[in-house]
Amino acid sequence: MLTKIQTLNTEFLQAIENIKDQKQLEDLRIVYLSRNGSIASLFEELKNVPKEEKPLLGKELNRLRNLAEEKFAEKKSEFEKLLTKKSQQIDLTLPGRKVELGHKHLLTQTLDEIKSIFKGLGFSIFEGPELESDYYNFEALNFPADHPARDMQDTFFVNKNFLLRTHTSPVQVRLMEKLQPPLRAIMPGKVYRNEAISSRSHCMFHQVEGLCVDTDITFAELKGTLVAFTKQFYGKDLNYRFRPSFFPFTEPSAEMDITCFLCKGKGCRVCKHSGWLEILGCGMVDPNVFDYAKYDNEKYTGYAFGMGIERTAMLKYGITDIRTFFENDVRFLKQF
Ligand code: PHE
Repeated sequence: MLTKIQTLNTEFLQAIENIKDQKQLEDLRIVYLSRNGSIASLFEELKNVPKEEKPLLGKELNRLRNLAEEKFAEKKSEFEKLLTKKSQQIDLTLPGRKVELGHKHLLTQTLDEIKSIFKGLGFSIFEGPELESDYYNFEALNFPADHPARDMQDTFFVNKNFLLRTHTSPVQVRLMEKLQPPLRAIMPGKVYRNEAISSRSHCMFHQVEGLCVDTDITFAELKGTLVAFTKQFYGKDLNYRFRPSFFPFTEPSAEMDITCFLCKGKGCRVCKHSGWLEILGCGMVDPNVFDYAKYDNEKYTGYAFGMGIERTAMLKYGITDIRTFFENDVRFLKQF
């Protein structure tokens, strides 16, 4: 019996040294330490040995069982440690985490498209200041002294002579002061109006101004250019019309409408049941403006136009609230 215990002891120690994974360890436990395992069966045999041998053999057998249990527990925790270590290791074969790239704001995209179409038509790009003088924003654009647009209600005045420009038209005058005809340019930028913020108006928005000056520029050229732009931007098969209008700095003046994209001209809420949507203001440069810019108004003629970029994007993409452009809600921005 004693030799049996000793053999089992050496056998067990050898076996546990060769264990390579948790599955093998479990198999080993079943062979040696389970209820029907070899150690348990030695305990069974112990019942049959002579009384005087029992204390020594019992002690040896207990020692073997304790040793086996101890070694088993040791091995088990060794495997568990290895496993957690492995799970903390970096798996180089794992695919990388996707970095989400942003994209241009819808207003920038819209302006980029407008710019590229006008570039194709031979226009260059200029910019002017947002803080503007009364002279450029009104006076040089032929606004009479008592014109309602000068009113405190529409204009953010900084002081008596300076204001936040209410449109991009002052850049026309700045450009003409700088350059001599022939001239073909668009002038994008922010403009400000003292208006209550609602779904249709904001106190800050963007415009693109256009100006073309040369000898012999006619209204036909104005129409041709704007129709070419409109067809490229909104689509080839839309209908358009020019409606007489008034601006102090153009004569004659017009507003351009396109067929309502929603109802296709039948009349709906968006077009206020007219079937038309206004997209821009335009006209032939008033000779008085040429005077302010020191251009010879006998020699030169020209046309100008201006459109709101938010409005343009809203019409093209069916956006119904101008405030969404400035709220920076990615759920809105992501859609474009
Ligand atoms: N500045 C005008 C506006 O803000 C638009 C316009 C520009 C009209 C140029 C005619 C010519 O409404």
